[in-house]
Amino acid sequence: MGGREQDFVRQAFESNYIAPLGPMVDAFEKEFAEYTGIPHCVALTSGTAATHLALRHLGIGPGDEVLASTLTFIGSVTPVTFEGARPVFIDCNESSWNMDPELLCEAIAAADRRGKMPKAVIPTDLYGQPCDVPRIRDICDRHGIPVICDSAEAMGARYRNKKSEVRSQVDGSRTLNPESWRHAGFDAWAAVYSFNGNKIMTTSGGGMLASHDKKLIDHARILSQQARNPAPWYEHTEIGFNYRMSNILAAIGRGQLEVLADRVRRRREIFEGYRQRLGNLPGISFMPEPAGCRGNRWLTVILIDPQEFGTDTHAVRTTLEANNVEARPLWKPMHLQPVFQGCVCWQRQEAVSARLFREGLCLPSGTAMTETDLDRVCEIIQRASRG
Ligand SMILES: Cc1ncc(COP(=O)(O)O)c(C=O)c1O
Repeated sequence: MGGREQDFVRQAFESNYIAPLGPMVDAFEKEFAEYTGIPHCVALTSGTAATHLALRHLGIGPGDEVLASTLTFIGSVTPVTFEGARPVFIDCNESSWNMDPELLCEAIAAADRRGKMPKAVIPTDLYGQPCDVPRIRDICDRHGIPVICDSAEAMGARYRNKKSEVRSQVDGSRTLNPESWRHAGFDAWAAVYSFNGNKIMTTSGGGMLASHDKKLIDHARILSQQARNPAPWYEHTEIGFNYRMSNILAAIGRGQLEVLADRVRRRREIFEGYRQRLGNLPGISFMPEPAGCRGNRWLTVILIDPQEFGTDTHAVRTTLEANNVEARPLWKPMHLQPVFQGCVCWQRQEAVSARLFREGLCLPSGTAMTETDLDRVCEIIQRASRG
């Protein structure tokens, strides 16, 4: 927790508004919209719920296909299966580790030839690094396919939309419109955020669905409250869910929003700290950050080339574990998950995501880490290379 969370929670208790929805939820939504610049949003119990409501609003159902990043957490795609639809996975590219727009293009062209277009595309902002949502939008807009950006991990991350570059009419030079730095998810039809306990900002559990499309958010709000129609009694004309965020958790969220910029700054510092300490070791490389991207570096992720480093990722991870330091493999790609056996994945030769999974390691990245903690983790990694 950062500072004023307890204050906000106390206010919620004092108002005796202990319920899903309430004044703290309204204020959290308003402040969230201001922070991200996305005008409409609804606070929910989780990021997974947010994706689910966006898909439900689109009326996706059995027989439909939804294209999604393969290198992601499963909560990104389970809502597709809740609705009885089928996910089709898209590999990532080397330059961003996010959905490869070229493969997306090929997948959509093939779907077009088959006469069965995907009903939505869900690219993930992996580890808080914004995907190329403007380019993905360009591709999808040609076919009217809605983009639901899974920005669950990307609170506080920003990217530049090149379309906002201002071209001088005098000499043709380009200057940046300050508005061109956009919050992760901004250019998507809908964006999903998670406030799960492990995220850069948390409400213990929670999520947000945000959009420029007011109709989507109005409908999602109704769906999140058991789809109760406006009537003095409980009247229902469709099936909804119990997905609304509690007033207490929204109070925590308001406090977290206030310290988010600091958190992003510290996570980026931690990333740089690792890079300074490990960057020169043979066989170690870091998650790239494409130009025009300013991720939140939610996690610092490295790749270990076993030939050059002298030992593999698994050995480094278990050495860290033996020293009471937790590091984790990357998300196991969805197309390699037994539960998605038989689902198609668009990739070239060996999937990039499969190699990243094999060689990648998420290092401890909590904002509370000190320089001494960083030294300790890096020394263990260096020792591991010497066997
Ligand atoms: C990429 C990604 N998508 C979706 C989710 C689901 O969010 P939640 O746990 O709030 O349901 C998470 C995190 O948990 C995530 O990391």
